[in-house]
Amino acid sequence: MTMLFEMTGITKRFGGLVALDRVDFSVREAEVMAIVGDNGAGKSTLIKTMSGAHAPDDGVIRMAGEAVRFRSPQDAWKSGIATIYQELALAGKMTVADNIFLGREIKRPILGIPFLDRAAMRKRTAELLNQLDVHVPSLDSWVETMSGGQRQGVAIARALNMDARLIIMDEPTAALAVAEVRKVLDFVTRLRGQGKSVVLISHNIQDVFAVSDRISVMRHGRRIAVRETRTTTPEEIIGLITGASEVRAAAS
Ligand SMILES: Nc1ncnc2c1ncn2[C@@H]1O[C@H](COP(=O)(O)OP(=O)(O)OP(=O)(O)O)[C@@H](O)[C@H]1O
Ligand SMILES: [Mg+2]
Repeated sequence: MTMLFEMTGITKRFGGLVALDRVDFSVREAEVMAIVGDNGAGKSTLIKTMSGAHAPDDGVIRMAGEAVRFRSPQDAWKSGIATIYQELALAGKMTVADNIFLGREIKRPILGIPFLDRAAMRKRTAELLNQLDVHVPSLDSWVETMSGGQRQGVAIARALNMDARLIIMDEPTAALAVAEVRKVLDFVTRLRGQGKSVVLISHNIQDVFAVSDRISVMRHGRRIAVRETRTTTPEEIIGLITGASEVRAAAS
């Protein structure tokens, strides 16, 4: 089966530090792949090589079976990879629709002069939010007046509007209240329902088990394990993250 996204032997060094050590990683079509691991394990570095923010020193990246080389996040966008960083990079003093269409506004010529087609953008925004079941106070309110969960929803809607096939989320629930966490996890499930693939970095094992199909475990720059969520347990995953199972094995 062809993977939607595949990395083999990815290595990334920062001076003498090996942040990623020959990492293999793949994501299937319509799959939620979680990445877990301790602080400094290499999770963010891994997604930065997926999103074009870092160029790997070695290894191959394939999107839908084709080798790709991203020189910038724009290159990754063009291949259908959208990354939602924790800080979201939304413009606070702009409306929902303005954020979703930032840099790719719909224009309509009037007497040969292109004008912003606000009605079309509002309509499309409403459709996108509806698909994800995102509720905002109004399409015209500024994003800075919205809750963390609503902002996540807007950021995901923007990724959908850019035709992303793979959406990468770095700790999307870290700063949210319980009800909002549930909502954002629900967005993730809806994305999969629309045939999208999601890479989800999270320190919260409960969230990971609630939405993922598979779990990749990173430790000291290595992808040390990948498990089907259905057939593993939180205990096993925590043991893999901390290396506790190895310590026990060495002691016995
Ligand atoms: N730009 C950089 N320059 C130098 N070293 C870096 C850089 N980015 C990351 N590192 C180092 O690479 C290693 C992996 O960092 P990374 O940010 O990928 O970890 P992480 O798994 O995302 O951790 P956390 O859970 O704390 O976010 C760490 O030792 C970190 O200090
Ligand atoms: Mg990180």
